[in-house]
Amino acid sequence: MKIRKAIIPAAGLGTRVLPASKAIPKEMLTIVDKPAIQYIVEEAVHAGIEDILIITSRGKGMIEDHFDRSPELEERLSATAKGTQCDEMVEIANLANIYYLRQKEMLGLGHAVSCGRSFVGNEPVAVLYGDDVILGETPAIGELMAAYEEFGVGIAGVKPVPRADLPRYSSLKLEEIRHRVHRITDMIEKPAPGEEFSNYSILGRCVLPPEIFDILDEIPRGSGGEYQLTDAMRVLAVNQGMIGVEYAGTRYDMGSKLGIMMANVETALAHCEIGADFRAYLKKLAKDL
Ligand code: UTP
Repeated sequence: MKIRKAIIPAAGLGTRVLPASKAIPKEMLTIVDKPAIQYIVEEAVHAGIEDILIITSRGKGMIEDHFDRSPELEERLSATAKGTQCDEMVEIANLANIYYLRQKEMLGLGHAVSCGRSFVGNEPVAVLYGDDVILGETPAIGELMAAYEEFGVGIAGVKPVPRADLPRYSSLKLEEIRHRVHRITDMIEKPAPGEEFSNYSILGRCVLPPEIFDILDEIPRGSGGEYQLTDAMRVLAVNQGMIGVEYAGTRYDMGSKLGIMMANVETALAHCEIGADFRAYLKKLAKDL
């Protein structure tokens, strides 16, 4: 079945990037000149997604403003002959059909996804974590959607992570089927040392069958007292198997200070407007490091 819908959970408090995220949603923190969530919406749109549900919460209204029309700004830009900029602003508002739903209590990523049940109905859904930006030539979620069409089971975007980082992520029991494609048979969220299956984690993207919603209703609270999406995917993996796809793009954790800086430096170096100047600046700076 063709995947047409996506959920972007963006309701979390973002405590790891305070004070930046105190009044600004962390999903609105910028990479050079675009907020993180715009990169994520563009990735979904490039992969063919038509309808997007963004899960928000109190204080996240700025996300809705960003994907809305801005008549005063558009009027000013067109009056000053900044026509291309004006078109760019209008395009942002026309990227996709974007819907919003508030998660009233931040009870975890699993709970955030479960809020999307009636939006999704009886279809598979792509899930793009709102603070994970993946940059590359092809949209990462498109690679996962192609795998869903091939295998017909839940698909997770996976990558190896340094062993020391595993307690912050998930750990997967998997075996390689072919280059960059794995069968996942078990998983654990935030493993304590000794509990890991492998150094592969789910990073930022998945495509899930509609059965995930019944599972999300059944799972108990997990790590950190939150309803964990990984715990629900574990049920899928054990019962019907899941596939892990090592997507090609580079993933930046916009929920961490280091991730934000890495995304900014690498994007600035490739930026058509400031790339050359930034490279020269960085080279000069690096000499004294
Ligand atoms: P994180 O666990 O990284 O978000 O969830 P967080 O809770 O904001 O993080 P910290 O630890 O306090 O810094 C990954 C994605 O899921 C969303 C977040 O907004 C983020 O984009 N999320 C998380 C929700 O939508 N609802 C939740 O209850 C939790």
